[in-house]
Amino acid sequence: MSITTQVTPYGTLPPAAQMPTRRPVSLPRLQEMRERGEKITMLTAYDATFAAVADAAGVETILVGDSLGMVCQGLSSTVGVSLETMCYHVESVTRGLRRAQGTAWVLGDMPFGSYHEGKEQAIRSATKLMQAGSHMVKLEGGGWTAEIVQFLVERGIPVCAHLGLTPQTVHALGGYRVQGKTEESAVTMKRHAHELQDAGATMLVLEMVPAALSKTLTDELPRCHTIGIGAGNGTAGQVLVMHDMLGVNLGKNAKFVRNFMQDAGGVQAAMAAFVKAVKDGSFPDNAVHAW
Ligand code: KIV
Repeated sequence: MSITTQVTPYGTLPPAAQMPTRRPVSLPRLQEMRERGEKITMLTAYDATFAAVADAAGVETILVGDSLGMVCQGLSSTVGVSLETMCYHVESVTRGLRRAQGTAWVLGDMPFGSYHEGKEQAIRSATKLMQAGSHMVKLEGGGWTAEIVQFLVERGIPVCAHLGLTPQTVHALGGYRVQGKTEESAVTMKRHAHELQDAGATMLVLEMVPAALSKTLTDELPRCHTIGIGAGNGTAGQVLVMHDMLGVNLGKNAKFVRNFMQDAGGVQAAMAAFVKAVKDGSFPDNAVHAW
């Protein structure tokens, strides 16, 4: 379908009336995908235009990640990102999707310090992210987070958990390292993952986790969809930070990243190539991108 965009001096979003009608992504739809073995795709986006382009490329879920602290704000870690900043970017992303009649499921990341005081603080922070337009919130860590997850889910807020390398605790972890390599840490991660599913988390990002462990977790968690980043190809879905998969950085990409822009004619084509590669199982390649 060809779409005529309205030309403005500052980027273009198509008029809503010209967008094809598609079924919005929802939790039941993600569960259906899981049950038929279709991989779930996720990219980060932080603004209206990139979110709309990712949606048009077929990306089902968009994470407004606190990685924006590094890629947009120039911070050295995600620790300095505030809830107000997260809400600003969630609003931008969801406004872009609305204008483009996008159907993607939007996750808003709960930043460092916005849920650490406990359930009451967590519900206040999650409410702000939901009112900014998120469909789901994401929070990092296992063990102490399970009761927070349950508290939010019981109040109608879908939650994505995040285990493995949890960037908000980078200083405690001693750097950006693979997690779950020892028998003891793998057992702890499994326990945390089960507790999070039991608490009602319906998605779980697994970051920098050995491929075999994330495959086991995926097999053991039918109601909590594992989304891997540097976690091998056995997860229910894959996520990458948009800037990394587009090759928009000055440093060397992490081992788990593929630059999809290299062979694409543009951003939307690169994102569509990511979607295709995740769905057909060619990304990630465990021999190249995993531990
Ligand atoms: O903040 C973020 O972008 C993330 C992804 C790396 C999963 O948490």
